[in-house]
Amino acid sequence: MSSSVVTVVAPVNIAVIKYWGKRDEELILPLNDSVSATLDTSVMCAKTSVFASSNITCNEIWLNGKKESFSNKRLINCLDAIKSIAAKEKSVDDDFLSWNVRVCSVNNFPTAAGLASSAAGYACLVTALAKLYNLKSDVSCVARLGSGSACRSVYGGFVQWHAGTDPSGKDSVATQIAEASHWPEMRALILVVGDKAKKTSSTRGMNITAQTSELLKHRIQHCVPQRTTSIIQSIKERNFPKFAEITMKDSNQFHAVCMDSYPPFVYLTEVSHKIIEIIHKYNDLCGGIKVAYTFDAGPNACLYLLEEEVPKMISIIKHFFPSTTPDNLVTGLESTSELVSSDFL
Ligand code: ADP
Ligand code: DP6
Ligand code: CO
Repeated sequence: MSSSVVTVVAPVNIAVIKYWGKRDEELILPLNDSVSATLDTSVMCAKTSVFASSNITCNEIWLNGKKESFSNKRLINCLDAIKSIAAKEKSVDDDFLSWNVRVCSVNNFPTAAGLASSAAGYACLVTALAKLYNLKSDVSCVARLGSGSACRSVYGGFVQWHAGTDPSGKDSVATQIAEASHWPEMRALILVVGDKAKKTSSTRGMNITAQTSELLKHRIQHCVPQRTTSIIQSIKERNFPKFAEITMKDSNQFHAVCMDSYPPFVYLTEVSHKIIEIIHKYNDLCGGIKVAYTFDAGPNACLYLLEEEVPKMISIIKHFFPSTTPDNLVTGLESTSELVSSDFL
């Protein structure tokens, strides 16, 4: 064998309890637990091919058709971690393991715009590498070394990333709370407000917050632990109003800590705020919570709602934003998916 290729598709996940702040930058260990749902790959995904060959002179990565530098520490950490597991497992021969790799990845949605491209991207990369080297081990912890949120995209359904307390990171792992089929009516609607890369990356933003925000301390000590317990309970009970209220409050608090950082940075735009207002008005008119919004580090909204609300919500969005086209209004389905993969050897 002189070369080998593996291609994998991986989903995004959108947090309902946000991860924001690290206690260890190198190992990517978070300051708080987080909870998310993994979206269906039929709508948004990263697709990554990894190619190993004795003819490749140095490791290469192409992202969305553009060659990027492989000197990125996170890429190197992921590749090294996967290779060291392969060496321990003796899953491939030493010769194959010594070859360089070429990585080609594309996202079918905006990159670095607050739609979890780093989560799908690194989950995809490490899953592809694990297949290339025939690994048996779970690779969620390796995905975490690429981007914290990526450790959650390795599982479908509702997922918790436990912050853990061990300095080595061995207990900072993601676990599944429930499969997608547990709550089959759950839907995610992605409203693409802007597709430009954010000015302050998630990594840099959370670093500024961790160093400067007083509100972050309050959030971590007094809000996130209670919210995590309650939202997990709401998922287990399929209690939508409770799930939705916690989701919206946590998104709002996350954006408040960005404002409380020094210097402050803002991810939400006027349109994002308009969406927040519309959802609250709609819920008020319904006399109960029917739809939840949540925003990651970008202007784009993820609405969580039950299936019966989707047509109503789409017509409301089209009413307020008449220029909405299928390109910027995507119905992301269910809360989940398995990693789909195919190999061409
Ligand atoms: P997002 O909100 O989209 O997750 P981040 O600021 O967290 O934005 O991360 C964006 C970075 O994630 C990109 O600059 C790139 O380094 C990395 N990334 C995104 N998509 C991929 C991918 N498919 N494969 C590898 N890395 C990716
Ligand atoms: C707002 O996982 O992208 O989306 O670990 O530095 O790569 P790094 O950051 P990243 O941060 C995600 C932040 C968030 C909330 C979340 O997904 O939990
Ligand atoms: Co990210």
